[in-house]
Amino acid sequence: MRDMRLSAESVTKTFGKTNRLAGKSTAVRAVDSASVHVEPGDFVAIVGESGSGKSTLARMLLGLIPADSGVVQLDGVPISAMNRRQRQQYRAAVQCVLQDPSGSLNPRKTVRTSLAEVIRFHGIAQGREAVEQKAIETLSLVGLKPETTYLDRYPHELSGGQRQRVLIARAIVPNPRIIIADEAVSALDVSVKSGILKLMNDLRVRLGIGYILITHDLPVVKKVADYVYVIKSGQVVEEGPTAQIFADPQHEYTKTLLAAAPDLDLVLADRFGE
Ligand SMILES: Nc1ncnc2c1ncn2[C@@H]1O[C@H](COP(=O)(O)OP(=O)(O)OP(=O)(O)O)[C@@H](O)[C@H]1O
Ligand SMILES: [Mg+2]
Repeated sequence: MRDMRLSAESVTKTFGKTNRLAGKSTAVRAVDSASVHVEPGDFVAIVGESGSGKSTLARMLLGLIPADSGVVQLDGVPISAMNRRQRQQYRAAVQCVLQDPSGSLNPRKTVRTSLAEVIRFHGIAQGREAVEQKAIETLSLVGLKPETTYLDRYPHELSGGQRQRVLIARAIVPNPRIIIADEAVSALDVSVKSGILKLMNDLRVRLGIGYILITHDLPVVKKVADYVYVIKSGQVVEEGPTAQIFADPQHEYTKTLLAAAPDLDLVLADRFGE
């Protein structure tokens, strides 16, 4: 696997829904022939209203659920056709970071334990000292310093922003090429949010990680993404470079989304001091 391009080609996912009261079952087409792709170093955003299929698409890209039709592939190899070794590489290469309403970190595990788990799982280091060394190195990369003061803390002893950094630390342990961040910054305060986005961008520059950022937050998209997919009812209705989408949206739905967003330039000035 060389360039590690991650793509979904015309993927579709339908969920069955049974309505017992009405005594009938209906199908929800959560994702409908959607195609997206990302490469290391990219910052791609997927935007769309609630229920438009963003998380379902993310779960297919992560291989957590299979597509009904279409393919997800890494560097041209469909995940359904991967051999054991390729699957292992894919599991390391494509990571996710979810939003943390404290749910993503186990409250009973210290930072040391939750990092050691992934370090061992991916076979990155063995032996207590080597594992600890790797944990410290990773904490340093996500800006939690002095690193040793974080190792023995539990999630409740961390701020929301610090927890998000630990989640990012867990995600970067196996040296991923792509991180899928589903509403990863949505729950955070404005200043914390910009710190996390800055960290994500630093990691992109330093480690060459590519991102798919799924968010409702259009100012964030305008600030960090270089390419945007707009998704509506499971379909990609518009895509293009961020500047183009914001300056000259083509689809009615994109225009509506942009019109519903707060005054972007004011928000950006307020948040990022620009
Ligand atoms: N496991 C499931 N079983 C049944 N229906 C599902 C399941 N997961 C998602 N859906 C349905 O699929 C559609 C898309 O959901 P999805 O979670 O992908 O949307 P989303 O864009 O991530 O929304 P949000 O912005 O609120 O997170 C919705 O109608 C949802 O109810
Ligand atoms: Mg979602």
